[in-house]
Amino acid sequence: MTNKVQWGIVGMGVMGTSLSRNFAGKGIQLALFNRRLEGIEEDVALTKKHHYPELHQAQAYEDLVQFTAALESPRKILLMLPAGKPTSLILDQLTPLLSEGDIVIDGGNTHYQETENRASKLSKKGILFLGIGVSGGEAGALKGPSLMAGGDQKAYEIVKKDLFQIAAKNSKGNPCCAYFGSGGAGHYVKMVHNGIEYAEMQLLAEVYALSHHSKIQPTLEEWNSTASKSYLLEITAALLAYQEDNMPFIEKIEDQASNKGTGAWATAAGTTLGYPNNLMSSALHARYISSFKEDRIQFAKQFNSELSKTKISFSELKKSYDLSRWINHHQGFEMLDLAAKEYNWKLNLSEVASVWAEGCIIKSELMDFCITLFKKEKSILLSEDFKKLLEEGKDAWKNTILQTVENEIPVLSMQAAWSYFVAMKTKKSTANIIQAQRDYFGAHGFNRTDQENSELLHGPWNKDKL
Ligand code: 6PG
Repeated sequence: MTNKVQWGIVGMGVMGTSLSRNFAGKGIQLALFNRRLEGIEEDVALTKKHHYPELHQAQAYEDLVQFTAALESPRKILLMLPAGKPTSLILDQLTPLLSEGDIVIDGGNTHYQETENRASKLSKKGILFLGIGVSGGEAGALKGPSLMAGGDQKAYEIVKKDLFQIAAKNSKGNPCCAYFGSGGAGHYVKMVHNGIEYAEMQLLAEVYALSHHSKIQPTLEEWNSTASKSYLLEITAALLAYQEDNMPFIEKIEDQASNKGTGAWATAAGTTLGYPNNLMSSALHARYISSFKEDRIQFAKQFNSELSKTKISFSELKKSYDLSRWINHHQGFEMLDLAAKEYNWKLNLSEVASVWAEGCIIKSELMDFCITLFKKEKSILLSEDFKKLLEEGKDAWKNTILQTVENEIPVLSMQAAWSYFVAMKTKKSTANIIQAQRDYFGAHGFNRTDQENSELLHGPWNKDKL
């Protein structure tokens, strides 16, 4: 008879294995489960147990009954499976084997609404469910990921001590792990993280485009020793340094970007809220456009003419990059703030920044700065810090945008940042035209600027035009 163990991990893929090693390295006793598919997945948990010294003490299973029986009460089970069907399938098999008060955590990139549904379904059976966004990739999972929790608060209180142990620690020494609210709050925060990630990646790709695909590599390394420092900047500088046959290796990679859906979810979630998250959507659309390769080749033949090269210095480029990033972060945090109000989550933006400041893909100096910024300010763009950055960089940013138009260089995210900024500081917009049009064709009504009206009004339109 073996001793009961503290945690069970389901799914020995890349993330499941790295997290298991992280837990075990902190002295937490584990049971590992991986399904058995004859000829395809056999003895996976056992092989990992033997392969990694940290996992030698762990118990390995391919049978869910034995796996659940190995866990102390209340059971704490972390699912690290592909989102969607694989997670649903295991949950269906697992649930009948659990007891009231057991805790199940979904650590995958699950859509927040699916997490909401699962949480309410499982709570009817007395099972405490948490949806936790895990960021940091393989290395983060092993050395310390960023953990965004949501769901049953009682369950979080039970597991948080262990989660704090495996999480990354930020510059203030705090674990990058927090509870953000009921149901799908944790997965929502992770989804917005990924939306910000998409735009951060795209902005770096645009910096590369504006540097004419060359010579920028050492400059990016230099930028990474300034306040622009970030994990994504660091890896971009690193990957640009690779050569093959005296050519940058990067030029040998097909220029069509894939995605696993979280950027599309983030874009859709913003629009559902009525929030203009155009940095995330521009980055997503840039990936989508890239995937239409055959059309791009055809369009290039039809429309391209010889263009001169841009005249943007690296110093101007950095200012444009910095300002665009600040707008990207501003939008991500504002979207979260709005979502928290809409879904009744008590979400503290400084705490979100604290969880994102280390361990995750969007960790950066700016994120670390946001921990303090949100303690005194409500909005990144209305802060004195942004004002200063803008004073120093606006002319450069404007010149960059002008040059991208002049030279027909596609920089969807940098232009989106500029458009958002210019539109947001326009006191009198042209939405009166939209309102009049809506009323003209659909009698949708409008408010007047010179009258208080309790009901929507209609215009004196002559409907002959219909
Ligand atoms: C993370 C990443 C991770 C994954 C993305 C990739 O925080 O560790 O965001 O979750 O890299 O899901 O997404 P795409 O395949 O859509 O780029």
